[in-house]
Amino acid sequence: MKRIAVLTSGGDCPGMNAAIRSVVRTALSKGIEVYGIEQGYKGLIEGEFRKLESKDVANIIQKGGTFLRSARSERFKTEEGQKEAIKNLEKHNIDGLVVIGGDGSLRGATVLCGKYGVNVIGIPGSIDNDIYGTDMSIGVDTALNTIVRCIDSINDTASSHDRTFLIEVMGRNCGYLALMSAIAGGAEAVLIPEVPYNIEKIIEKIKKRYEEGKTRSIVIVAEGVGSAYDFGKVFGMIGGFETRITVLGHLQRGGSPTVFDRTLATRMGAFAVETLLDGTGCGKMVALQKTKMELVDLNDVLNKKKELDPKLLEIAEILSN
Ligand code: F6P
Repeated sequence: MKRIAVLTSGGDCPGMNAAIRSVVRTALSKGIEVYGIEQGYKGLIEGEFRKLESKDVANIIQKGGTFLRSARSERFKTEEGQKEAIKNLEKHNIDGLVVIGGDGSLRGATVLCGKYGVNVIGIPGSIDNDIYGTDMSIGVDTALNTIVRCIDSINDTASSHDRTFLIEVMGRNCGYLALMSAIAGGAEAVLIPEVPYNIEKIIEKIKKRYEEGKTRSIVIVAEGVGSAYDFGKVFGMIGGFETRITVLGHLQRGGSPTVFDRTLATRMGAFAVETLLDGTGCGKMVALQKTKMELVDLNDVLNKKKELDPKLLEIAEILSN
């Protein structure tokens, strides 16, 4: 292998820059040239390639977002788009490709590998932590820290006014961010898509807590169960609480990556290059399992569902009482 390329695709996440930096510098240290592809699969189709040297990835490890930029490409889903992408990989003599992103991006990697025989390796980057095979994806820890900082701030003002706050967090169809931030933020309740909930019961619980002298309540709503505004109306109407809503939105996706995400991304980037070079990584995704870097088949990543740890669900229930 003489030349590899790297791209970031789909929703960005903090730590993507650290992963690119690691890919570039690990490859250069082994005498391999690296090209960065701008805007993910869109840039792959449109030929947005640029050669990356060590200095190009200086001073980015601490920055959120992705300096290669990202996009969601509809055209890459078509055969015509895929063929353009392949043409560009051939034109630039790319022998191996590192794809950093969430499940949509990894699906694209599987197409390139399975249908066109490209040597591809995936790195899981998504704040949702919904990617099968890895305990943590890049960006999750930073997003959680951001969410919990917001919960702490809201807690202060909620306590001053005896208010109930519903805080909506991202995660698409996965309740991981909601569950973990509810545990770490000391919330009274959490609504997630994986577990059936009973609104009346939650309202009863909150009422009881006020009667016992609590001065505020926090309910975390995973975006996958619906809008916090809709739930808020029910809480206000049935519970009679003074209710406020905060939708955290995209501030969860930005910000400087935590030490955990910087080191995870760095380890994943290095492992991706090493295993791409020794041939074991092609068609695989790099994964963190317990404390080790492992490889998971991309087909498994796409076809198997990551489950929430039942112990965490139990802890969240017990500790919120
Ligand atoms: O997958 C990451 C994520 O932030 C989800 O949590 C969220 O549902 C979605 O992306 C938002 O997408 P967009 O940035 O395109 O609005």
